[in-house]
Amino acid sequence: MQLDQKVAVITGADSGIGRGIAIEFAREGAAVVVNYAHAKDKAEEVRQAIEQNNGKAFVVQADVSQYQQAVGLIQQAVEHFGKIDIMVNNAGMEIHSAFLDVTEDQYDRVIGVDLKGPFFCAQAAAREMVKRKIAGRIINISSVHEDLPMPQNVPYCCAKGGIRMLMRTICLELAPYGITVNNIGPGAIDTPIDADVKADPQKWNALLAEIPLHRVGQPEEIGKLAVYLASDASSYITGSTFFIDGGLMRSTGAL
Ligand SMILES: NC(=O)c1ccc[n+]([C@@H]2O[C@H](COP(=O)([O-])OP(=O)(O)OC[C@H]3O[C@@H](n4cnc5c(N)ncnc54)[C@H](O)[C@@H]3O)[C@@H](O)[C@H]2O)c1
Repeated sequence: MQLDQKVAVITGADSGIGRGIAIEFAREGAAVVVNYAHAKDKAEEVRQAIEQNNGKAFVVQADVSQYQQAVGLIQQAVEHFGKIDIMVNNAGMEIHSAFLDVTEDQYDRVIGVDLKGPFFCAQAAAREMVKRKIAGRIINISSVHEDLPMPQNVPYCCAKGGIRMLMRTICLELAPYGITVNNIGPGAIDTPIDADVKADPQKWNALLAEIPLHRVGQPEEIGKLAVYLASDASSYITGSTFFIDGGLMRSTGAL
């Protein structure tokens, strides 16, 4: 198994992509810390799914936008499993609003979860890796919107653009310790985050028309890429974003 003996923390692992990554990691032998913010029942369901497959999971509540809770998440992970090898910053949210109408509260909430959270979770995880001389992995679940502008979603695009430079910058500072840092940039993935689009046939068909493979992705497809980036097989990869989008970035001409 590719992640045998590894300990992974995954934020927002009670739902969607985070859930998919948690299950794929456990299938590959990792002990998984399943973080959630509000939905304890969903996090417990992920734990049960992992344990039924003879995997190891530990559920931790933490709002990653709160500094003390982000640091506490890593501390609890280390206290429980003894170390951290893999940090996956997955938790995220969006608030759609025209730029002219975005409030300070909306801005703070999106930046808090989508950028401040990954920043301080990565910092706390890297400190533990350095202390234990672990050549660990930091993986951020970014988005095609770390490059591709999306009107009516400015704070989200700012956060994902920020996480791109967070990754590119800290990969340089952490390389001397053997820690790699990479981003996964999903396109449209079948999760609750875009439930409003799925519920509207016109929006849904417009979305599919933009995707060359003409379908949305599944959380386990992101999970399998995350397994590769977390495994020893990816040891020479750092400082890159891996788009997984059915060709969306090409069809929009964004890159
Ligand atoms: N689904 C897509 O099409 C898509 C595309 C590109 C990027 N992404 C990114 O993937 C990541 C996961 O999103 P998803 O699609 O699975 O959506 P989702 O709504 O199913 O999952 C989001 C997760 O983040 C957690 N979360 C939200 N606020 C939190 C907080 N303050 N503290 C801790 N956890 C918190 C939620 O509990 C949930 O588990 C996000 O970063 C999102 O931006 C998703």
